Amino acid sequence: MRQYNPKLFKMSHFTNQVVLITGGCSGIGRAAAFLFAQAGAKVFLADLSEKAGDETVEAIEKIGAEAAFARIDVTDFEDVERMVEDCIQRFGGIDILVNSAGILGPRSRTERYTLDDFQQVMNVNVNGVFYGIKAVIPHFLAKKSGTIVNLASVAGVLGFANHIAYAASKHAVIGMTKTAALEYAKHHIRVNAVCPAFTNTPMLENAFVNDETDYYEALQNAIPMKRFANPDEIAEAILYAASPAASFMTGHALILDGGLTSL
Ligand SMILES: NC(=O)c1ccc[n+]([C@@H]2O[C@H](COP(=O)([O-])OP(=O)(O)OC[C@H]3O[C@@H](n4cnc5c(N)ncnc54)[C@H](O)[C@@H]3O)[C@@H](O)[C@H]2O)c1
Repeated sequence: MRQYNPKLFKMSHFTNQVVLITGGCSGIGRAAAFLFAQAGAKVFLADLSEKAGDETVEAIEKIGAEAAFARIDVTDFEDVERMVEDCIQRFGGIDILVNSAGILGPRSRTERYTLDDFQQVMNVNVNGVFYGIKAVIPHFLAKKSGTIVNLASVAGVLGFANHIAYAASKHAVIGMTKTAALEYAKHHIRVNAVCPAFTNTPMLENAFVNDETDYYEALQNAIPMKRFANPDEIAEAILYAASPAASFMTGHALILDGGLTSL
């Protein structure tokens, strides 16, 4: 029988682990980057903005951890391949990939949702995650270990009125998570998804473009806990999914929703 081991739940087991985080310079990805860094990991951030990248690297280095940044667009497979190569060159390998880059897309009913907007959301949220998995897996297979955590959403298990592309894309992220988990389970590679409900990040702030208090309150009231998540609460779950404490968990969609899907 396995002994209860309090050390398993201490964060020190990320010491010298290399964590590659797409969308790592904002919101949930940034919160996870700081938590991993505090837990002893080296973090490689991949995101669109050079300025946000430099700022985040500097802030992480200030807490005494190692960090690096690459400007990439996750919709460009060559960028994603280069990101993986740069990370391996900089830190000697990759132990954990967190696919956090994502966009919400406009709020619009389906008959008015433009084809371009649909394509753009699918491109970032679906192609981006597929490219990340595809690019890192050869490295994980070669070293016979590795863990991937994909950011899905409660919109990956529920409908999301006025966000058809986002809901479609997050259902797809869960499908890709389960499929990759099956393909690589026997190769000691775990693949899981984290599914938050509304979380206080720039993505959510930008959704209230016209300071729509009514819409904001309606969303908050829809959550049984009557509040949105903090990015740190989602980051904790990402660390758990990536840690040895979750060693038998793969293909799982871990829901953090303040009770929403229990309604
Ligand atoms: N905030 C929420 O309410 C919420 C809820 C459920 C799921 N999520 C998911 O969590 C993830 C992180 O969201 P967040 O709230 O932190 O958003 P955010 O907007 O704060 O951060 C997303 C990051 O992704 C980056 N990004 C966007 N498109 C990119 C591209 N093409 N290439 C590279 N980087 C790109 C952005 O620059 C940004 O830094 C997303 O996948 C999102 O769908 C968020």
